[in-house]
Amino acid sequence: MRVRKAVFPAAGLGTRFLPATKAMPKEMLPLVDKPIIQYGVEEALAAGCDQIIIVTGRGKTAIEDHFDQSYELEQLLEEKGKTELLTIVRQISDMIHVAYVRQKQAMGLGHAVLMARELVGDEPFAVLLADDVISGPVPCLKQRIKAFEATQSSIIATQQVDGPAISAYGVIDGSPVRSGKFNGRLHNIKNLVEKPKWEEAPSNQAIIGRYILTPEIFKALDRTPLGAGGELQLTDGLRLLLKKEKVYGYNFEGVRHDTGDKLGFLKATVEFALQRKDLGSGLRDYLKTLKL
Ligand code: G1P
Repeated sequence: MRVRKAVFPAAGLGTRFLPATKAMPKEMLPLVDKPIIQYGVEEALAAGCDQIIIVTGRGKTAIEDHFDQSYELEQLLEEKGKTELLTIVRQISDMIHVAYVRQKQAMGLGHAVLMARELVGDEPFAVLLADDVISGPVPCLKQRIKAFEATQSSIIATQQVDGPAISAYGVIDGSPVRSGKFNGRLHNIKNLVEKPKWEEAPSNQAIIGRYILTPEIFKALDRTPLGAGGELQLTDGLRLLLKKEKVYGYNFEGVRHDTGDKLGFLKATVEFALQRKDLGSGLRDYLKTLKL
């Protein structure tokens, strides 16, 4: 089956970025000049998904406005002959069909995914956490869709994280699938734990915010008790799913930028700006003048 739908949980409060996020969704913070969530939406499109489902909450209308048409702005840009900007603005609303569903209470990632159940229906789907912006030669989601096509099983993106930092993640206990075409990147998962203590982490393979899930996950989440932080954790739902179906980890190729963290956000801003034709050399020259 083809993966057509991509779910973006976006109901979180974004307290780490207060006061910037007091009246603005954290997903709308710009990396250079593009909101964080748009990077994820573009990745989902590049991977062949054509239906975007955004799980929103109170105070998130700016996300809906962003992916909608903006008549006044378009008219103004047209009158002023700013055709390049007009194209950029139109491309966003023309990009894709977006559906929204509200998560009334922020009760965890597993709960957010459950909110999308009706819109997803009985088919495999992708989940993208917008905070994790991933750059690389092949879109991260596309790499995992290939693995899904070969296995017809849920696939979770993983990355090596060494040291105590591992306890900020979900962690898999798995072993590489030696045969097949995935060069040791595909892992059989035996178990998964959400935010373990460093000493208790089953491996150094951390879960990164890109998932392909079979619809069986909804039934598993129905039966999942509240976990870390008193929330319904997707990782715990996946552990129950493991009892019914195979779940694989996929150590993806690419660089992950943790834009949910202030330092990660700043680093990503600099890296993305340095890659831009219109900004890169100016920023590079400026950085060189800093006495660091
Ligand atoms: C979520 C998941 C966690 C995963 C992380 C990746 O945690 O629950 O398993 O490792 O995203 O970014 P959060 O960062 O929302 O606390």
